[in-house]
Amino acid sequence: MINALIIGCGRIFPKHFDSLKKLGKEKIKIIGVCDSNIKKKIIINKKYRLKFYQDYKKAILLTNPDVVIILTPSGLHAEHISFSLKNKCHVIVEKPMCLKNLDAKNILNLSKKTKKRVFVVMQNKFNTPIKKLLKDLKKKKFGRLLHGSVIVRWMRDKNYYKQASWRGTWKYDGGVVANQACHHLDLMRTIMGDPISVFAKATSHLAKIQCEDTALILFKFKGNKTGIMEATTAMRPHNVEGSFSLMGAKGSVKIGGFALNEISYYYPKKNIDKRKYITKPENVYGFGHLEFYKHFIFSLKKNRKSEFECEEAFKTVNLINAIYRSIEKNKEIYLNQLTNSKRLGIN
Ligand SMILES: NC(=O)c1ccc[n+]([C@@H]2O[C@H](COP(=O)([O-])OP(=O)(O)OC[C@H]3O[C@@H](n4cnc5c(N)ncnc54)[C@H](O)[C@@H]3O)[C@@H](O)[C@H]2O)c1
Repeated sequence: MINALIIGCGRIFPKHFDSLKKLGKEKIKIIGVCDSNIKKKIIINKKYRLKFYQDYKKAILLTNPDVVIILTPSGLHAEHISFSLKNKCHVIVEKPMCLKNLDAKNILNLSKKTKKRVFVVMQNKFNTPIKKLLKDLKKKKFGRLLHGSVIVRWMRDKNYYKQASWRGTWKYDGGVVANQACHHLDLMRTIMGDPISVFAKATSHLAKIQCEDTALILFKFKGNKTGIMEATTAMRPHNVEGSFSLMGAKGSVKIGGFALNEISYYYPKKNIDKRKYITKPENVYGFGHLEFYKHFIFSLKKNRKSEFECEEAFKTVNLINAIYRSIEKNKEIYLNQLTNSKRLGIN
């Protein structure tokens, strides 16, 4: 049995709580929950019947968990991960792992030094259609890969941004690139490889935030592969599309729906039963958290390396920074070295 402490009881907390409950206490037991907002204590004690702590450092030192599950604002992840690792805990952290490259590098080094592992929640990779695509890519069913394309047309209105003061700020969040579309950037990397360069433009159409609500990104990959991404939270009246399309020399595929939750087309196999792969999640979080936890337990117990760990997450953080740097400098940015945004993770 693995003992877990959760830090951060906001919007994504119930998704984690429900997934852990489905796993059963004998797999992962929640031994405490922490939130700096004392108002959360009542609901945690009454509804969830869990022990509440207000100070995350005290909570870790008092409960001595095997794993700390970090669900706090993205700009605080680095601090919370470091303290957990230094106190000999494994970490599960919500995406993105952190905002700054320097922090990502420190986390990587600290994880090696302490021999404790950091897993980042990129639950979309457990979506049924994505699993099918990744399996068929291993079998080279689409031939040589040519082009990857992402569209994220989601709605985040002023009520969303007003929910918490960290949303849409440079210091704690970033815009659609670092927050909502970091799932899709991670998927792009997984499928197309690490980009050689990116060129991006951004604006804020509707959201009154420091960062962008809309970004347009061009990618160059090794082997003359290309990529494009359009990501926005200015879609109205609701989330309409979260898709990934792939062109290969022998066929093409589009995983569509509003949250990578169905197959729109899948060639060359014309007679694929698309209905087998449709899922109907109630929100963009999907059903992947439970699968993610199963994967975490498996990787830990079997001591298997996982693609959800900090080594890969570091590359996604670097990609996010390169995209922001391209926006800041209005030029193509090459990823052959670490490139830092001058704004992300900074006041
Ligand atoms: N995987 C996904 O699809 C997905 C979806 C939503 C959010 N997220 C990520 O989850 C994280 C949290 O997002 P959210 O929407 O739940 O945010 P939220 O604002 O609703 O919740 C964050 C909670 O952390 C608490 N907190 C802040 N500072 C703290 C501290 N120092 N110690 C303890 N608690 C502290 C806040 O009081 C709040 O209750 C973000 O990194 C976000 O990007 C991921």
